[in-house]
Amino acid sequence: MSSAPNPSSPNRPIAVLCLASYYKGSEFIRECHRQGCRTLLLTSHSLKDEAWPRESIDEIFYMPDVQKEWKLEDAILGVSFMARTEMIDRIVALDDFDVEKAAALREHLRVPGMGDTTARYFRDKLAMRARARDEGLPVPEFIHVLNHSQLRQFMERVPPPWVLKPRSMAGSMGIKKIHSSDDFWAALEKLGDQQSFYLLEQYVPGDIYHVDGIFYEHKLLFAIASRYGRPPMDVSHEGDIFTTRTLPLGSAEAKPLIELNKKVMKAFGMLRGVSHSEFIQGRDGKLYFLETSARVGGAHIVDLVETATGINLWAEWAKLEIAGGKAPYKPPAPRKDCAGLLVSLAKQEQPDTSAYNDPEIVWRMNEKKHHVGLIVKSPDPKRVQELLESYVVRMRQDFLAWQPPLERPNF
Ligand SMILES: Nc1ncnc2c1ncn2[C@@H]1O[C@H](COP(=O)(O)OP(=O)(O)O)[C@@H](O)[C@H]1O
Ligand SMILES: [Mg+2]
Repeated sequence: MSSAPNPSSPNRPIAVLCLASYYKGSEFIRECHRQGCRTLLLTSHSLKDEAWPRESIDEIFYMPDVQKEWKLEDAILGVSFMARTEMIDRIVALDDFDVEKAAALREHLRVPGMGDTTARYFRDKLAMRARARDEGLPVPEFIHVLNHSQLRQFMERVPPPWVLKPRSMAGSMGIKKIHSSDDFWAALEKLGDQQSFYLLEQYVPGDIYHVDGIFYEHKLLFAIASRYGRPPMDVSHEGDIFTTRTLPLGSAEAKPLIELNKKVMKAFGMLRGVSHSEFIQGRDGKLYFLETSARVGGAHIVDLVETATGINLWAEWAKLEIAGGKAPYKPPAPRKDCAGLLVSLAKQEQPDTSAYNDPEIVWRMNEKKHHVGLIVKSPDPKRVQELLESYVVRMRQDFLAWQPPLERPNF
């Protein structure tokens, strides 16, 4: 095992503290270990029996998670206590819900990396919208749910439908499509004193894309654009198969997305890390910035990107965090295949996908009960699209089950 060079203390390996209030990021942790780091994991007590890559972890610390959430105050006290005996060089949030906590901990321990102000742009959808608009980037019309007379004016000016969404959730949780001002006031009534944690925005019908990228010292070193099948909100609210497929690297469809993503990241001050951003292409062909995050995409998007390019975003993220701006970092040259991903809830506890047997299938989900997932790969984007389209029809018949979306995370 090589030892990650530690410029501030040459006799000690770099210690990386990973925060995970959700079970994920094993490949990040393994890469830290492969690079010779001291690897520390802070996770929830309720996740103690998950299949963490224990062989790659030096110490695991558990947070009490009353109501399945940690309090920031507890995390600060817990990590400061840990720091009496552990030197901590990096703090990394493996899940979206840990991004603010990681930033607050960095500020508290004076560990380098993204601080509170920057983290806000990657978590708070209202901050994202306002900053992007101020930089002249295209965003749907929006307003903070705060002042009722301004909200009334907004609804007179911007035609419905609108989207009422929480400022800091993920996975379409808590999002509502609103068709009239009566609908809106009724929804607001239900939100009570939580209103100011929401924004209201224009619903822009169109296709939804995502761009997954790697940044180092403000430079974009790798980006791949992909296109979701049905919009994620429709999949989650109405129940359907979730699909997405990568666009060929350098293609005319991908280029404007990657360019816009670059501008968004510049506006938000992305220094180093990975990001997953989403865009809407409106019916008029115009692109709008939807949202971004300082993490890898969920729902097996890491596996999708690795299938198409050979680049594992978790592992690359670990490498560049360890390099930390002090050592050079470069991702490997990408392979240029295309890949498509399908994921669905299944009626069956152990769904059998053996009837799906095209040679392009390179991955099958098997770790989760009542879930089905496939990844296909081909050098030909049309073939990937064709396979996704035919599998969606078959999977609706064979497996599809649906549960109404959660209002809040269930971890
Ligand atoms: N302004 C909008 N216009 C059209 N669809 C939207 C809009 N905002 C959100 N959506 C839909 O809701 C989904 C989730 O919204 P998003 O802002 O990405 O939040 P989340 O963090 O839950 O993914 C999007 O993928 C899209 O389908
Ligand atoms: Mg989203």
